Amino acid sequence: MAGTAAGDGETLERELDEMLEIERFDPPEEFRRQALLSDPAIYEQAAADPQGWWAGQAEALHWFEPWETVLDDSDPPFYKWFTGGKLNASYNCLDRHVEAGIGDRVAYHWRGEEGERRDVTYADLHRDVQRFANALKDLGVRQGDVVGIYLPMIPEVVVAMLACARIGAPHNVVFGGFSAESVKERMEFSEAKVLITVDGARRKGKTAPIKASVDEVMGDLDSLKTVVVVRHAGLDGVPMSDGRDVWYDEVCAAADPVCPAEPLDAEHPLFILYTSGSTASPKGILHTTGGYLTGVSTTHRHVFDLKPESDVYWCAADVGWITGHSYIVYGPLANGATSVMWEGAPDYPHRGIWWEVAQETRATILYAAPTAIRTFMKWGHEIPEGYDLSALRLLGSVGEPINPKAWLWYHKVIGGGRCPIVDTWWQTETGAIMITPLPGITSTKPGSATRPFPGVFAEVVSEADGTPVESGQGLLVLTQPWPSMLRTLYKEHDRFVETYFARFGKETYLVGDAARADRDGYFWIIGRIDDVVNVSGHRLSTAEVESAIVAHEKVAEAAVIGQSDDDTGQAIAAFVTLNGEIEGTDELVAEIGAVVAERIGKFARPKRIIWADDLPKTRSGKIMRRLLRDIAEGRALGDVTTLRDPSVMAALESQIQDAE
Ligand code: PRX
Repeated sequence: MAGTAAGDGETLERELDEMLEIERFDPPEEFRRQALLSDPAIYEQAAADPQGWWAGQAEALHWFEPWETVLDDSDPPFYKWFTGGKLNASYNCLDRHVEAGIGDRVAYHWRGEEGERRDVTYADLHRDVQRFANALKDLGVRQGDVVGIYLPMIPEVVVAMLACARIGAPHNVVFGGFSAESVKERMEFSEAKVLITVDGARRKGKTAPIKASVDEVMGDLDSLKTVVVVRHAGLDGVPMSDGRDVWYDEVCAAADPVCPAEPLDAEHPLFILYTSGSTASPKGILHTTGGYLTGVSTTHRHVFDLKPESDVYWCAADVGWITGHSYIVYGPLANGATSVMWEGAPDYPHRGIWWEVAQETRATILYAAPTAIRTFMKWGHEIPEGYDLSALRLLGSVGEPINPKAWLWYHKVIGGGRCPIVDTWWQTETGAIMITPLPGITSTKPGSATRPFPGVFAEVVSEADGTPVESGQGLLVLTQPWPSMLRTLYKEHDRFVETYFARFGKETYLVGDAARADRDGYFWIIGRIDDVVNVSGHRLSTAEVESAIVAHEKVAEAAVIGQSDDDTGQAIAAFVTLNGEIEGTDELVAEIGAVVAERIGKFARPKRIIWADDLPKTRSGKIMRRLLRDIAEGRALGDVTTLRDPSVMAALESQIQDAE
């Protein structure tokens, strides 16, 4: 049983407090002995010859033609990796495994909300991907055409992504929690020709009519020629437009079953994934084939110490985020892993469902977000302790800083005290894990992502002049290119350079996070330095939410901040100024929430709305979010002398007190 000696709640509290005193956790001897990597010399070896290290990793992939140059750095920051080489991501994820005789290995133990089970093998995926790739071709999709994907957590989302990769059509996946409006925006920006979606998506026993919602907004999009609809929720009367909409199963049935994988340039675009930045318009992060696949397969193998023959690996993210792209789809499949794919929420049909799935599939590796861990912690250790989690041997964390207490709870209650924890820091832009322990080598400290992965170069630099901070706080930067780095922002090359490579020059990637380096060279990620908020590991821009809020006719102005939150890491708080004499009411709170849900998605709704007669602005009119954060979190106010009207703060303070 997990967490053997945890006992009652109070004892556990005490034990965790005691553990907080232990600064470091060395890799357990038993784990170290069986680990793929256990010699710390790997760090120095990779640092001495990063290109040689990455090239060695790339050799583990299948190449139709070998590369001529490992790294072309002639035009920074537009780096190219493995130029001259040709490969195909879908071939690497499927064909070579089938050819190696492991086609009957399960790629995904898919588990549905209502207890359905589908074990999808590599051979199954290989068959389905070929048919769907041909179906896409039949629908007129050509190499380079962008294909949108808006699907829930079902095996077809993987089939759709790999079918695109097979024919060289970059996919643009939109997380299922985004609204149809957001999907439309992303389809419009990327000029997607085809959108693959679903009749309905199930969530906690309810079904959302996805296709009908898509229809409401997508009508006037000229570039979009076809909508492919997967039957999943069994909805009746799904609206289908003649000449535009087709059923997934029907186009697959009509397609040729054989579709050889297209040999593509290493730098051929594999996908675009929109993510939030400082402004309201999302950034289309572009990843290419050879470097990305090298990065994700290498990190997946070594960070998770993957033994594909025996491990059952579960990344509990959604495919619609980068974590899903890299560590549900491309990394695990390239490595021939067996994964768990869970369709639903962590509390449906009951709060023990994750542990029930882990027990039933004998999951050995779990990769989850701190928010989920904190939620389970709140629900109580008795729930996971009711299941047999003894197969687990490694735990991962991703998406936001993990507080030491949650780290220790994860370690003790879920990992039974025997599983190393890998706290992995990375971003949509980095494509793959950048700062992380190697579980057989690196001693961990709860709350620290520890050291850069071999072949990755990170530094904390001073905000003032960019000089390295040996031990202390500053801005996190990556000082050398890495294979899975974003290549550009789709159709926005200037914004790419401006956002990431303007501050410290074209060879230093500005991460956008503040971090602290300690005496041992360990990195502690503090959080974003830009106007990006991380709610439950979901990245949102304050500007994006503000522009949704001001779309409400009664709103004059809005300022959004990320407020610390015990459950979700950060939560959205919105200071809203209403037009004229309009009074803030509960109905208005609900209406504003609804506008945000419609424009972005339900997950972006403000947790708190604070009515404000005026907002604190500098003399040049810039809203001072720092002061709003102070006020929302009940701190003493920082310097207010630069405000155009310092009395605004006193008024806001009394407004907050009245509301509470
Ligand atoms: O602030 C960092 C935080 O998430 C941001 C990246 O968000 P996104 O592109 O959506 O990718 C999330 C999944 C990789 C980072 O700039 N972040 C991510 N992982 C961690 C983290 N913060 C602290 N610790 C982490 N392990």
